[in-house]
Amino acid sequence: SERPRVLSGIQPTSGSFHLGNYLGAVRQWVALQETHDAFYMVVDLHAITIPQDPAELRANTRLAAAQLLAAGLAPERCTLFVQSHVPEHAQLGWVMNCLTGFGEASRMTQFKDKSARQGADRATVGLFTYPVLQVADILLYQADQVPVGEDQRQHIELTRDLAERFNTRFGPTFTLPAPYILKETGKIYDLQDPQIKMSKSASTPKGLVNLLDEPKVTAKKVRSAVTDTDTVIRFDPVEKPGVSNLLTIQSTLTGTSVAELEQRYEGKGYGALKSDLAEAMVDFVTPFRSRTQELLDDPETLDSLLAKGAEKARAVAAETLAETYDRVGF
Ligand code: ADP
Ligand code: NA
Repeated sequence: SERPRVLSGIQPTSGSFHLGNYLGAVRQWVALQETHDAFYMVVDLHAITIPQDPAELRANTRLAAAQLLAAGLAPERCTLFVQSHVPEHAQLGWVMNCLTGFGEASRMTQFKDKSARQGADRATVGLFTYPVLQVADILLYQADQVPVGEDQRQHIELTRDLAERFNTRFGPTFTLPAPYILKETGKIYDLQDPQIKMSKSASTPKGLVNLLDEPKVTAKKVRSAVTDTDTVIRFDPVEKPGVSNLLTIQSTLTGTSVAELEQRYEGKGYGALKSDLAEAMVDFVTPFRSRTQELLDDPETLDSLLAKGAEKARAVAAETLAETYDRVGF
């Protein structure tokens, strides 16, 4: 195909996607399937870097795939699959582990954050090398671009470093990928603490907007979002992080520019912005939830769609792995 290739993945860990996952990543995936040769996966190998109940993991993997389809991914326009269905990920992962410096891996800030939250003794070696597996995920497909949130930038840099290192040592093999991170939505913040990113693991319960929550719960979270003691609705992430986060979310969900929103709310209080945003959120999550449920109600169709995706993905992954193994001397 002549189209540039994109690859990205999402963890099946916590059931519902949150608004940061959607605005930071999944929304771009949907757009890019129209213009790119797109590969998207549910990264269940990454999920077990933290202990998982097997039945829950299996259910959450299906749930993640259903949510991706409900968000607008179309199996005829992209390749959607589950990471563990393509064994080449783990195989190339090993080769990449053997190219990565221990110090280099130790500098990954996401590992530092996640292991600090778990306690150093409980963090696994898998959690430590997870960015290296992610390197393999990307390089297997010779991806040109990787649509992710800002928190993944360092891992894409590691991917480029390792691709270059391999190419230099063994001959040109891998495409160097570029991050595809939108300035506007690369980082969506917690609604209660707009200094931290919205995240499954670090957010406050009231600050985390789960797309599968009851719409009225979501509306309530939006209405009780933390703003500031001022009254002016202006986009200013430094002085007004809470209001700016709400403006970003509303602008993206409704396709209205931030400048237009600032004008619309001139002379109006935060209540008006919050109540409009609550409505926009409800309009978005209501069909999303019912579509997700419909897909889950037909697990055979979902599983067969994922099996076809894995077959398409393997065709590409096997080719890259064979070339890599050959160059390494296997
Ligand atoms: P989490 O960070 O909540 O554990 P994942 O690691 O599964 O979620 O992330 C899936 C995708 O969502 C990644 O591309 C990540 O960069 C993006 N993402 C996660 N949180 C946010 C956020 N608050 N703002 C923007 N993008 C985000
Ligand atoms: Na993340």
